[in-house]
Amino acid sequence: MTTKKSIGVGVISLGWMGRLHARAYRSVGERFPELGIEPRLVAAADPLEEAQRAATEDLGFERAHASYRELLADPSIEVVSICAPNYLHAEIALAAVEAGKPFWIEKPMGVSAEQARSVARAAQAAGLVTAVGFNYRHTPAIEYMRELARTGALGRLTNVRVWLIADYNSSPLSPLTWRASRDRAGAGVVPDLMSHGADLAQYVVGRIASVTAMTDTFITERPVPTTTGVGHSGFEIGEETGPVENEDYVAMLVRFDNGVLGTLESSRVSVGPRAEYVVEVYGTNGSARWNFERLNELEVCTTVDGGPTHGYTRAMANPAWGEWSRYQPAIGTSMGFDDLKSIEAAQFLRSVLTGEQLAPSAADAWCAAEVDEAVVASAADGRWHDVPHIELPTTFNR
Ligand SMILES: NC(=O)c1ccc[n+]([C@@H]2O[C@H](COP(=O)([O-])OP(=O)(O)OC[C@H]3O[C@@H](n4cnc5c(N)ncnc54)[C@H](O)[C@@H]3O)[C@@H](O)[C@H]2O)c1
Repeated sequence: MTTKKSIGVGVISLGWMGRLHARAYRSVGERFPELGIEPRLVAAADPLEEAQRAATEDLGFERAHASYRELLADPSIEVVSICAPNYLHAEIALAAVEAGKPFWIEKPMGVSAEQARSVARAAQAAGLVTAVGFNYRHTPAIEYMRELARTGALGRLTNVRVWLIADYNSSPLSPLTWRASRDRAGAGVVPDLMSHGADLAQYVVGRIASVTAMTDTFITERPVPTTTGVGHSGFEIGEETGPVENEDYVAMLVRFDNGVLGTLESSRVSVGPRAEYVVEVYGTNGSARWNFERLNELEVCTTVDGGPTHGYTRAMANPAWGEWSRYQPAIGTSMGFDDLKSIEAAQFLRSVLTGEQLAPSAADAWCAAEVDEAVVASAADGRWHDVPHIELPTTFNR
């Protein structure tokens, strides 16, 4: 029997994402056996006592801390996940760089382009590999869509349509969590959902060069929660209300460096769609479209010479698409959201072993933050804004 190399993991913050990162690390030994590693969940850090209890009793961590600084000081922790609310990302990531620990951080990487820039530059200067939670990239159908787009199978690319329309805040009784605070979350749905859409568009098509955008806040007051929850669930509310300080909705037009045009739209307050995250890419010879609510399917049309049944073929995920075959041995059987995080964990740990940046990187997150900032500026003055070039290499044109 071969012994797998143990790799010490620390997870900072145990809300929805922190718990998912922990599950994802645990899956890597089995799903990616060729890496020859077994992640060891050494410690979690979260100020909430309930999260500390869950860390050791439910999730399998050896210990739990209230402060992330204690975790970062532990020499047996070789890699860290940063899953805190957005306003803590830059502070914690810079401390991780200081401690020499490669990190996997949730998006958005801070609450401003300036914060994202400082983190990306610090990681680069320290020679650390990183990973950022742009998990939808790892969807097998998206990987295949990208292949179609980038190999010319769709002809010359003309335009993309991307929308991330969710209902997690559609009820006026949804609580006023950290996500509604400008200081703690940034520009609302722009860095929250839309940053996934911009990343997907860049991953499939190339860098976004310029944007013009409209934004609005449709529900301006919300009840203050009286208990904490995890992600979007589990909060109780009282009579008191407070102001929503950031964007519920964004609509954008974009131009890509390569001349492709795009429309992107995102909402966190739509009534009807639950999590309708759609990417459509069009070329002169065909198109492909994917919807997160049907994660395992891709609709493809690759001919302009239609007969009476001309239109989309609905293909199911299969071994030719991305990492699908690591998760299911039988076509027609579905992968799920958590599996995308498992792939992200494996890419991160493979990068730690090899030094080659594989997952979406801190530079990609900086690039996304520059798109966010251009969107907010355009919504304020009604003009087109160029997205500044960043000097670090990104992974989406690899
Ligand atoms: N990639 C995705 O699809 C995706 C999905 C959801 C959330 N996210 C991102 O993940 C991050 C976390 O979101 P969530 O839904 O898990 O949030 P959450 O509200 O469920 O959890 C946040 C956790 O952070 C902890 N925390 C607060 N202050 C802390 C501190 N000083 N030190 C350590 N921990 C602290 C809280 O106690 C809580 O347990 C956000 O940046 C969010 O944008 C990404």
